[in-house]
Amino acid sequence: MIFKKVNSLHGEVTVPGDKSVSHRAIMLGSLAEGTTEITNFLQGADCLSTIACFEKMGIHVENNKVSSSNPSDTVVRVKGNGLRGLKAPNSILDVGNSGTTMRLMSGILSAQNFDVTVTGDSSIQKRPMKRIITPLSMMGANITSVNNNDCAPLNIVGGKLKGIHYDSPVASAQVKSAVLLAGLYADNPSSVTEPYVSRNHTELMFRQFGIDIKTSGTTATVSPATRLTAKKIMVPGDISSAAYFIVAGLIVPNSEVLIKNVGINPTRDGIIKVCKQMGANITLQNISDKNGEPTADILVKSSELTGTTIEGSIIPTLIDELPVIAVLACFAKGQTIIKDATELKVKESNRIDVMVHNLSLLGADVIATEDGMIINGGRELHGATIESKIDHRIAMSFAIASLMTEGETEIKQAECVDISYPNFYSDLSGLAM
Ligand code: S3P
Repeated sequence: MIFKKVNSLHGEVTVPGDKSVSHRAIMLGSLAEGTTEITNFLQGADCLSTIACFEKMGIHVENNKVSSSNPSDTVVRVKGNGLRGLKAPNSILDVGNSGTTMRLMSGILSAQNFDVTVTGDSSIQKRPMKRIITPLSMMGANITSVNNNDCAPLNIVGGKLKGIHYDSPVASAQVKSAVLLAGLYADNPSSVTEPYVSRNHTELMFRQFGIDIKTSGTTATVSPATRLTAKKIMVPGDISSAAYFIVAGLIVPNSEVLIKNVGINPTRDGIIKVCKQMGANITLQNISDKNGEPTADILVKSSELTGTTIEGSIIPTLIDELPVIAVLACFAKGQTIIKDATELKVKESNRIDVMVHNLSLLGADVIATEDGMIINGGRELHGATIESKIDHRIAMSFAIASLMTEGETEIKQAECVDISYPNFYSDLSGLAM
């Protein structure tokens, strides 16, 4: 796709449902008794992969997405079969590009009375799975990496699990959630301690489904469950999708953008904190609550920004937003340093290498470091051809950079935004003046 500079951005946008919350709603809905109704479910390829996997295990999911003109009105109905109601799939489970499906579902599969093989696309087959194989094996699951490289495909032989305490070396909600989901089936409580608190959507949704979950500092503890009760879940808008419009509204002059109904869970709102620290004019309006998840409308106005340092405990709260924050830093005065973010290397692409390479092509002053990058803002950017590496967050980040880039920017494999935001380009062009 080809992108050109714009003069200003104006108007309202409603971003699609949160990806993390949508995955969890399908999974817990499948394990509950009764029908779980999910509104504002994200109709992105990753969440559709989760639906497809649970359908293969005998779960009936009603998803009339095609007939609805307004996706946020669509209701997805999951007819749960209870905690012990999943059936052996008759073929391999394919998670597509979705790391969340792979890792969270592995926690559930570890406790089933059947064996299963799980795999995904070429990106998934390179992403580290030892991080879940280790704790789930400690609980008693028998998991092997088919190619012996600690990556997918994984062969999972489910069985009886024991409760463990796991000291996770990484702050990862996917690792934490895999253990907590397996913990529903264990003989005793299971807990996970992380170096920093990662997103807590699993813990919040466990409470909605009546599961006994306790949190204290960086530790979450779940008790074995006997039954989950179906729920109505309203999915908040995804702050990771809103991030592109937040950055766009800040860097394009004379802009004012209102992003409606966005989840502002404190374990996800690092982007707002960092932008404000850099001098951003951002206001939260209509703060409310959706099933324990706080939401707000976010009003963004063009701002003069100054570089900052982003490190430590804030990193897990903005990990998926770091590519677009790197774009933002190119338009701030002075230096921005991103540290403690080695996790960026094991996302859908190596986001340190891919961001630094692509921003350099546009003429930005940026260097990669061992655990992040250093950006000296203020250079004028010029058009170039960008490889998205089939990473949705890279494609969207460069669509935002292109709004302020002299000349044309071409983004290859731009359609990969389907993973988390199928209407991204039309929503963006709807704001452009
Ligand atoms: C996710 C957790 C994050 C995030 C991913 C979604 C989740 O991964 O990057 O896009 O839904 O739990 P880690 O927690 O493994 O960093």
